[in-house]
Amino acid sequence: MSAPSPAGGTERDAPPLSRLRSKHLLSAADLNAEEIVLLLDTAEAMQEIGTRRIKKVPALRGKTVVNLFLEPSTRTRTSFEIAEKRLSADTLNIAGSASSLVKGETLADMARTLEAMAPDLLVVRHAYSGACDLLARICDARVVNAGDGMHEHPTQALLDAFTIRAHKGSIAGLKVAIVGDLLHSRVLRSNILLLRALGADVWLCGPSTLMLPGSDRFGVHATTAIDEAVADADVVMLLRVQFERMHGGFFPSVREYFEMFGITAERLRRARPDAIVMHPGPMNRGVEIASDVADGPDSVILEQVANGVAIRMAVLYLLAGVEADEVEP
Ligand code: CP
Repeated sequence: MSAPSPAGGTERDAPPLSRLRSKHLLSAADLNAEEIVLLLDTAEAMQEIGTRRIKKVPALRGKTVVNLFLEPSTRTRTSFEIAEKRLSADTLNIAGSASSLVKGETLADMARTLEAMAPDLLVVRHAYSGACDLLARICDARVVNAGDGMHEHPTQALLDAFTIRAHKGSIAGLKVAIVGDLLHSRVLRSNILLLRALGADVWLCGPSTLMLPGSDRFGVHATTAIDEAVADADVVMLLRVQFERMHGGFFPSVREYFEMFGITAERLRRARPDAIVMHPGPMNRGVEIASDVADGPDSVILEQVANGVAIRMAVLYLLAGVEADEVEP
């Protein structure tokens, strides 16, 4: 499948009409395998724009994007904003602490207020699972989930798939070991959906107290034995221990967590020799990952960050670019 050109080429190199079925991107489940490949291919085209002297194309000129980040973020917020600017969208940023939410306004009323100003896209991060679905029901604007509570983070899963494909060529049949705080991870939920759709063999590993409930429904393997999970893995993906979502003792101590589930250079030797190490960030060094692994030759963690810009450009372009105007809600 060839990717559409965001750069406004000549008639001769005009792309075939390609689009996503859904008006919004709320969940990785909104995407079938063909759409995922379209997004990854489009992101490859977007990556080239980032290498130009002037890193800007007119694909979203005249479109207004509101970035509504009501929970902290560094990578996602920044990469969405860079992506929007590279596509020439008009952007504005709203942080929870600087909005009328602090005066008691509800999220729904805030959404209706923003809607009255006719934005084209809302990019939303919120602490509550389902916040993006709520906004999508209220607003005419297209909504992109930039991470909602423990529910999903679909653009993170897309950039992870993009990074894996760049290193491995294809995702089908790869063993992907995902290790860490499975219970609280929205990244995990989106990655399972996306990686399974692309045919990966997904292994989950963490303490029994932090397992994903009902993981057997998703066609993945689950184990508390880290050596089994990591053995012959093509990809070792660590998940952050989300202390801020923990109210109670999920494991005896950080030291013991690291001893049992932390990825060290010694543990990594069980994976395939060409295995890559991933982490969505932010990292807890010395908890889920040893510093020498995070900074080592197998780590692609900063590549993931860089790829986030291209993937978010692709998502915005395919949702709100000119060709997407005919997509039905
Ligand atoms: N991976 C990720 O979502 O990071 P941020 O919280 O910094 O956006």
